[in-house]
Amino acid sequence: MIDEISRAGAEFDAALDAASDSRALDELRVHWFGRKGGAIPALFARLKDVPKEQKKEVGDVLNKLRDRIQSALDEKSSRIAADEAARKELRETIDVTLPARKPQLGSLHPITLVRQQMEDIFREMGYSVDPGPEIESDWYNFEALNFTPDHPARDTQDTFFVDVDKLLLRTHTSNVQIRAMEQYEPPVKVISCGRVYRRDEITMRRSPMFHQAEGFLVDRGIHIGHMRATLEHFVRKLFGGEPKFRLRPSFFPFTEPSAELDMSCLFCGGNGCGTCSQTGWMEILGCGMIHPQVLRNVNIDPEQWSGFAFGMGIDRVAMLKYDIPNIRTLFENDLRVLSQF
Ligand code: DAH
Repeated sequence: MIDEISRAGAEFDAALDAASDSRALDELRVHWFGRKGGAIPALFARLKDVPKEQKKEVGDVLNKLRDRIQSALDEKSSRIAADEAARKELRETIDVTLPARKPQLGSLHPITLVRQQMEDIFREMGYSVDPGPEIESDWYNFEALNFTPDHPARDTQDTFFVDVDKLLLRTHTSNVQIRAMEQYEPPVKVISCGRVYRRDEITMRRSPMFHQAEGFLVDRGIHIGHMRATLEHFVRKLFGGEPKFRLRPSFFPFTEPSAELDMSCLFCGGNGCGTCSQTGWMEILGCGMIHPQVLRNVNIDPEQWSGFAFGMGIDRVAMLKYDIPNIRTLFENDLRVLSQF
């Protein structure tokens, strides 16, 4: 039995050497001290068969082995625990010399870029920026702008109605003219950019939701020369270069006289090409002198005050500036497109 005990001791020493982590140590502990079938309890159980005169000696040897194994296991497991803690700490410390990870930055949508450029040009000229509401009443979208009750633009084909309180989705940004003139005493200068809605099919150039910029100015003694100078300055800054301009007579219920401003084609310089349908001109915006009835509708005396207004599509400007042939490209939010801006 003494031999057996010393063989067990040697076996333990080899196993302890091989155990390199706390899980292996736990397994060793079970193997040697486990309640069921542990090697040490099994040896103690066999003491009863040892002849009486050897019992004390064998018992002593066995006790020593048990104590040795016990303290060897304790010692190694506290060493391994300390090692593991140190390794964990090392893993969790911050290496301040590592290069920083670059955050993924987004970019501005082409429509936002154009809107900001437009607003900036007018802000420089002292205009206030006011986006106005997209859900509007008939009064602000039509009536106060001098649309007669049977004007074709009021046709249900064009307007989205909201099922509450006769509200509608604004069909243009001209509603901001009325709201701003109600809110501020003249002189007043406002630029307004935002979404507008019309019941249209989606095509290459049309969408039921699109964007407009609207601007207007009311002051004493304003005439069409102020309008022309302001708009030419604006378009020149927006597109760059030295384009030629022309005002073409037109009609809007809220301006009198009304006009369209054309600029010489950006692409051919006025010689005629596919983009300008061989005319050499591009329609840029609608404009005119604010109709006296519109001023009266917001309690401004047209004998004392006059002004001009203009409106233009933002989407088309973005398409021209960034060479985007299809308006749908602007609203699909395809990252392969948007990340180019
Ligand atoms: N509201 C017009 C439209 O949607 C655009 C417009 C034309 C606005 C002439 C104006 C203007 O302020 O003077 O077609």
